Amino acid sequence: MTSTPTDPANADFLALEEIHAAALRALPAEVAGYLESGAGTEQTLRANREAFTRWVIRPRPMSGVTAPDTSTQVLGIPLSLPVLTAPFGGDGLFAPDGHLAVARANAACGTASIVPEVGTFSYAEVAAAAPAAARIGQLHPYESFDSVAKRIRAAGYTALCVTVDCPVMGFRVRSRMSRFRPDPVVWSGNVVHDGTPNITETYGNRIVQSWTWDRLTEAAARQDLPWIAKGILTSEAAEQAIGAGASAILVSNHGGRQVDPAAASLDVLPGIVETVAGRVPVLLDSGVRTGADVFLALALGADAVVIGRLAAYGLAAAGEHGVRRTIELLTEELRTLMILAGTPDIPSVAPATVARRAPL
Ligand SMILES: Cc1cc2nc3c(=O)[nH]c(=O)nc-3n(C[C@H](O)[C@H](O)[C@H](O)COP(=O)(O)O)c2cc1C
Repeated sequence: MTSTPTDPANADFLALEEIHAAALRALPAEVAGYLESGAGTEQTLRANREAFTRWVIRPRPMSGVTAPDTSTQVLGIPLSLPVLTAPFGGDGLFAPDGHLAVARANAACGTASIVPEVGTFSYAEVAAAAPAAARIGQLHPYESFDSVAKRIRAAGYTALCVTVDCPVMGFRVRSRMSRFRPDPVVWSGNVVHDGTPNITETYGNRIVQSWTWDRLTEAAARQDLPWIAKGILTSEAAEQAIGAGASAILVSNHGGRQVDPAAASLDVLPGIVETVAGRVPVLLDSGVRTGADVFLALALGADAVVIGRLAAYGLAAAGEHGVRRTIELLTEELRTLMILAGTPDIPSVAPATVARRAPL
């Protein structure tokens, strides 16, 4: 029997857009709205995609490259592809096994997960499902930071990812208008009732105490793990994050879900890469939808990219299989472009391989 993209269990998805379409067919309207929407009037959300259209790849005919090597590493974590999956909360809304499935798909592909604090499953559950992929635990700079970081370390993770752009949830107009209030269980995988205020209650009530870099410096120094500063959009913030001890920077506007209007991640990447000047790795997320986007981000100085919605589309379309096909298709597309651009490996995807699109 042949499978079709409408047979999710083993659908033979042949393009990422097929997975996106299948995800939108599978999800209830308000969940699709939660996934697809951004903050405010969604200018940042749109800008993230538009930024990728301002660059072109410079082909290199007759380069002799036939089997490009897409492997790399970030913070000592080996990756078959310079891609990690993002910490997206509420994952059980997209498929019952949420980030368990994402991590299993990553393990099968040789990539890795950044596992969210407000996910449906605990750090330990995701690590048990796929220890090879559950490498980075995301958390918020918040009162429970020490105890949450301790649980991440105890579950065997290699690094922390501290979300610095979310002292309060962005003003999410579409979710407000759809009265989107799912069962809190989808955010509660890491909620423990130990007397300290927990993240889901406090976010719900909008009473999170906003931290400073000084406070984060101290809290992060108490942990015995390298950490990524997630949500950097300016050179000043990159400098402050490095000053606070960050081991990597994630250039991100949270997929357009926080500040609106804000700069597209890709637009600010080259300036931040220049400021960072090789002191720590620089990652990018927000708006990555294709292998070409991965190529452009690497060429503009990212060491790896992080995929949020793209991974969630795979999850919603066909669970673990859908995420796995997403990563496989990203790999195939990136490899194709690396051959056409004559880049044999990831370090050779350098600024000289791209150019600004000529104005119309
Ligand atoms: C449904 C959804 C939930 C998210 N939840 C979180 C979260 O709990 N913590 C966090 O740091 N980022 C969260 N993000 C942001 C992602 O980690 C990432 O920055 C963003 O999705 C990247 O943009 P992209 O979706 O265009 O790839 C979420 C994103 C989405 C789409």
